[in-house]
Amino acid sequence: MAQPQHDLTVIGAGPGGYVAAIRAAQLGLNVAMVEREAMLGGTCLRIGCIPSKALLESSERFTEAKSQLSAHGVRVNGVELDLPSMMKRKEQVVSILTRGIDALIKKNKITLYRGIATLRSPGVVEIATAAERTRVGAKHILIATGSKSATLPGIDLDGMHIGTSTEALSYGLVPKHLVVIGAGYIGLELGSVWRRLGAEVTVVEYLDRILPGMDGELAAEARKMLEAQGLEFRLKQKVQSARLDGTQCVVDCEGSQSMRCDRVLVAVGRVPNTDGLGLEDLGVRRDSHGRIDVNERFETSVRGIFAIGDVIRGPMLAHKAEEEGVACIEQLVTGYGHVDYDSIPGVVYTHPEIATVGKTEEQLKADGIAYRKGVFPFRGNGRAHALGMTEGKCKMLADARTDRVLGVHIIGPRAGDLIAEAAVAMAFKASSEDIARSSHAHPTLAEALKEAALAVDSRAIHQ
Ligand code: NAI
Repeated sequence: MAQPQHDLTVIGAGPGGYVAAIRAAQLGLNVAMVEREAMLGGTCLRIGCIPSKALLESSERFTEAKSQLSAHGVRVNGVELDLPSMMKRKEQVVSILTRGIDALIKKNKITLYRGIATLRSPGVVEIATAAERTRVGAKHILIATGSKSATLPGIDLDGMHIGTSTEALSYGLVPKHLVVIGAGYIGLELGSVWRRLGAEVTVVEYLDRILPGMDGELAAEARKMLEAQGLEFRLKQKVQSARLDGTQCVVDCEGSQSMRCDRVLVAVGRVPNTDGLGLEDLGVRRDSHGRIDVNERFETSVRGIFAIGDVIRGPMLAHKAEEEGVACIEQLVTGYGHVDYDSIPGVVYTHPEIATVGKTEEQLKADGIAYRKGVFPFRGNGRAHALGMTEGKCKMLADARTDRVLGVHIIGPRAGDLIAEAAVAMAFKASSEDIARSSHAHPTLAEALKEAALAVDSRAIHQ
């Protein structure tokens, strides 16, 4: 039987893959997409960004109702947790969004194949289901298979007591004591959720700080705020093993006492999903971390095979994958497309949120770049007071010679939304003076960013 022929076959329907597929369809290609899971949207939608944000929102509402609304003159009695309803809402949020992607795929006339894809030759993808194996032809193939949770040797993941973020998004009961291994994005977000819902939470981290890679000053501030919320940090502790002893978990760290708890969340990073795709047989080169090598056009070592997102170098972030997907397709079809890696933001959705774009102070120092720094605390911002969220600050780093903004780091209310302005400004190579001279509506949290820009030149008004 003749193979169906497509201009492009995308493997993986996560934010990288489905966005690339839509862009390719917009540009007139005949596009196919292969997905092995029943739901489209990848880790981000099914078991990552979206369900975690749903739980972060709900658990924050619970905290507010329990202890913060009285400050607004709102008395609430008998606040109780209804965990099954909270989980149901989370699933509804996921379901609405994944159905939205189904609709977009149909609207853009993308052929969707269900099953596990393997590359058989540069122009052929084999798709296996329980019932059959079919082959489709593709002039171009885009690998967007994402990543999975990493684990450590010595850890027995039992999928229930000792698990990854997937399990921690769906615990049926609030753990009494949750030990989180790793003080990165996932550890802090999901640690926060369960702490708010009543668990004792201990975060064990190998390094001497939390949030490695983030600006050190902000990370130190985040640690204090999270400690005030009841998270306990054990830094400089290398976890050697985690195992089940009856119904209890035992976590052993090098040189210190074992910890006993009822749940363990392993959040020590993620690894690319590149096994089982048939890459070796085709000669698609990978680096020592298992990531696929690509050139500036996202083409692998084999002509016609491209890769984007978590399977290649760079931060494992949904929006980075989306940018790469669009740039890859635009380069392929129009000859032009690019990703500005210097202006990709990162957000940790704790309370308050922590958001960052560009270089940290540590990086600027290491690179020997002279910079000026403007810091503005949210306690000088009217809207933050109205919200009752005055913790944190905005920090702007600008080149000492040219004044170009090199980095912006925010810890405080809605930092994840505020960072967008900084990312756009940096993409346009703005100076701190450009931001300082732009009108920001009053009273808004965004004024804190303008004040940080003014502070670069020591002329913040409300400080
Ligand atoms: P991560 O790389 O952010 O943090 C892992 C932490 O585990 C590090 O601090 C590391 O030092 C620590 N660690 C490693 N081995 C250890 C050991 N033996 N004992 C104790 N600590 C150890 O990884 P995480 O949090 O798992 O997130 C994975 C990826 O997912 C990240 O790359 C992140 O970009 C992405 N992500 C993004 C989110 C967002 O944008 N809000 C949310 C969740 C994940």
